Amino acid sequence: MKIGIIGSGGREHAICHSLKKSNKINKIFCFPGNAGTAQFAENIILDLDNFETLKDFIIENRIDLIIVGPEKPLVDGLVDYLETFNIKVFGPNKIASQLEGSKIFTKQLCEKYKIPTAKFGVFENKNDSKNFLKNSKFPIVIKADNLASGKGVYICDNKDEAHTAIDEIFNGKFGIAKNLLIEEFLDGEEMSFFIISDGVNIKKFGTAQDHKRVLEGDKGKNTGGMGAYSPSRLISDELEKKIMNKIINPTLKGLSELGSQYKGFLYAGLMIIDNEPYLIEYNVRMGDPECQTILPKLETDLVEVFLACCDQTLDTVVLNWSNKKSLCIVVCSKGYPDTFKKNIEIKNLEEINLEVNDYLFHAGTLKKNEKTFAIGGRVLNFISLSDDFRLAKNNILKNINELNWPDGFYRKDIGYKVIK
Ligand code: AMP
Ligand code: GLY
Repeated sequence: MKIGIIGSGGREHAICHSLKKSNKINKIFCFPGNAGTAQFAENIILDLDNFETLKDFIIENRIDLIIVGPEKPLVDGLVDYLETFNIKVFGPNKIASQLEGSKIFTKQLCEKYKIPTAKFGVFENKNDSKNFLKNSKFPIVIKADNLASGKGVYICDNKDEAHTAIDEIFNGKFGIAKNLLIEEFLDGEEMSFFIISDGVNIKKFGTAQDHKRVLEGDKGKNTGGMGAYSPSRLISDELEKKIMNKIINPTLKGLSELGSQYKGFLYAGLMIIDNEPYLIEYNVRMGDPECQTILPKLETDLVEVFLACCDQTLDTVVLNWSNKKSLCIVVCSKGYPDTFKKNIEIKNLEEINLEVNDYLFHAGTLKKNEKTFAIGGRVLNFISLSDDFRLAKNNILKNINELNWPDGFYRKDIGYKVIK
């Protein structure tokens, strides 16, 4: 069969790599992919905001299944659109994607179904927001409602910082803002929890911890993710039951009462406080770099998993996982997440000797005239699976040293909480 993957990051390269292992696959198209996916897929450049062009390409090329990697096309309703043309698509529809597209939608769902989350208020203008702060304790969290690529969240230590956040959001820094959210600060340890669902059946899809800040010690600006490890050190059977019963199941029930069955990956960003889970946010997709970290552990044919989700037969598929530990370090362009140079050649890629449990997934790369160039902030993902996190990290550092790319940088402390 022929498969199409939407997206261009490390997540999509990891998905492409897992799919390629299946004997059911004849051809993979990536829209638009990167230099890594170009090794075994055909990269296609189309305007992804133009659903019609994409639909025409899918039909002309008889693509059997589309996998949507990133959130934007999901929130914009790509799944709903393609399904009206009887195209099989893996990913949630527009209503369900509001779980990521609107923080207020999610908070209201939490309220209705008593899902544990930070206490919050919704405010429609600068004055009401600032008045509320007069009686608030700090730190406090202020969030833009709309998709802001992880950047619309402010943790404010005092009133001045909070006022700056409110002004920036209502002045349109993240697009037109009708309202914002002010939230209680939750003090605990974060964990990413993943499930996959066909709308009726749910399977767990691993846990991870990512490192979002650019500097070592989890300091500095937020990024898309500088590295991750799986599993999270916090997970236990008891905690998993609480997450399913208190958070995931009521969410999916709430969506189905809105007439939307959830098909796709669902990523719950949680804060764990005294072994109790609180929902911070939902993402309606796999995390990046969590996907690169978790997928190499999957032993079941991923094509079968995706097809079962589209056919609502996920109950018949057994997900087998390696019980190794997985760690991922992201190599970025110097300057990221601020300005960085583009079109810098990455030499030495062929010098890297990947062992059996090592993986290299591309993100912001482009192949031109047989050479590979960095064109994005996050450039390469190095992953290793091992019996312990320290060994995994050592394998990765060996591979990054072999790359020896002077224009890149990476965090050397990924996984510090699990590597003593
Ligand atoms: P989000 O985009 O909602 O995941 O927020 C980005 C990051 O801000 C999260 O990964 C947390 O580290 C932090 N954060 C968000 N909401 C809260 C909260 N209520 N309490 C503490 N930290 C938070
Ligand atoms: N790693 C965080 C995210 O994918 O949103």
